[in-house]
Amino acid sequence: MPARERLPALNADPAPVQEDESAVPSADPAESAALAADPETALRLLREGELTVHGRLTDASNAVLYCTASLDGLTAPCVYKPVAGERPLWDFPDGTLAGREVAAYEVSAATGWGLIPPTVLRDGPHGPGMVQLWVEPDPAAEELLALQDPAGHEPGWLPIVRAEIGPGRTALLVHRDDERLRRLSLLDAVLNNADRKGGHWISAADGRLYGIDHGVTFAVPGKLRTLLWGWAEQPVTGEALDVLARLADALDGVLGERLRPHLTPAELAAAAERVALLRRTARHPMPSSDWPSIPWPPV
Ligand SMILES: Nc1ncnc2c1ncn2[C@@H]1O[C@H](COP(=O)(O)OP(=O)(O)OP(=O)(O)O)[C@@H](O)[C@H]1O
Ligand SMILES: [Mg+2]
Repeated sequence: MPARERLPALNADPAPVQEDESAVPSADPAESAALAADPETALRLLREGELTVHGRLTDASNAVLYCTASLDGLTAPCVYKPVAGERPLWDFPDGTLAGREVAAYEVSAATGWGLIPPTVLRDGPHGPGMVQLWVEPDPAAEELLALQDPAGHEPGWLPIVRAEIGPGRTALLVHRDDERLRRLSLLDAVLNNADRKGGHWISAADGRLYGIDHGVTFAVPGKLRTLLWGWAEQPVTGEALDVLARLADALDGVLGERLRPHLTPAELAAAAERVALLRRTARHPMPSSDWPSIPWPPV
């Protein structure tokens, strides 16, 4: 995980930062994977647990605080992103990034694929924010991205883009032909995720894959920016079609109600339209020509 450091004051929060000076707890990959796979327990812990801030993730663009949540003898690491630490973004003027992260979690939960770690909106030591279960990456997990020979990629990998890796030298950036990534790519198409770079998924110790950092999602105009273009224009799987049908119903009902506090009516309608379009075409989307469709740098 990236370096943690002592907390400087948050962007818009004049309150002094209360930090727990005791040793920063490290996360056990197997324990965090088990809790992520048990959303009911994790959500209760995140909602009702006592939050202790241990440090700030230094390379994040918004305030991302490494915390623990404790409840009834259970303690687990989590990230807390206070709304007060959000940098304003011109193209996401409404709502909050924290709210979008929670909305993305709700959609993921409704797919049944469990692709986003349990995430809640709650009050914390720096005011309201999103709190998400920390999923410690499995150090033994296989790489899902690679640079390969531009003349042809290896079997089991799918091309993303040719990349310049030095003066006059190019390589092909590829991702694995992996069912988990394929599901994540479809979820991103629904969320209109503008930031699926390589650092925004985590391989958990139980073999599951989790997407993180969904603050720039749900815009009305197409903003899909991702590395996961390996299935562009290909038919979506039958399983994905079933999930899209479920999502369409859910957006009309319970899921729509759960998203409403976090999104504008236009954003909610656009999400339903994206689901409808994916069902109609039954194909993975193509990169847009009028929007940078690949995050750069890619990790
Ligand atoms: N749920 C999580 N589990 C494990 N690690 C996480 C989780 N959420 C965030 N992180 C770690 O914290 C880093 C910063 O978080 P995140 O990407 O969500 O914030 P950000 O402000 O968008 O940062 P950046 O600008 O670097 O993308 C991630 O790159 C990742 O290493
Ligand atoms: Mg990020």
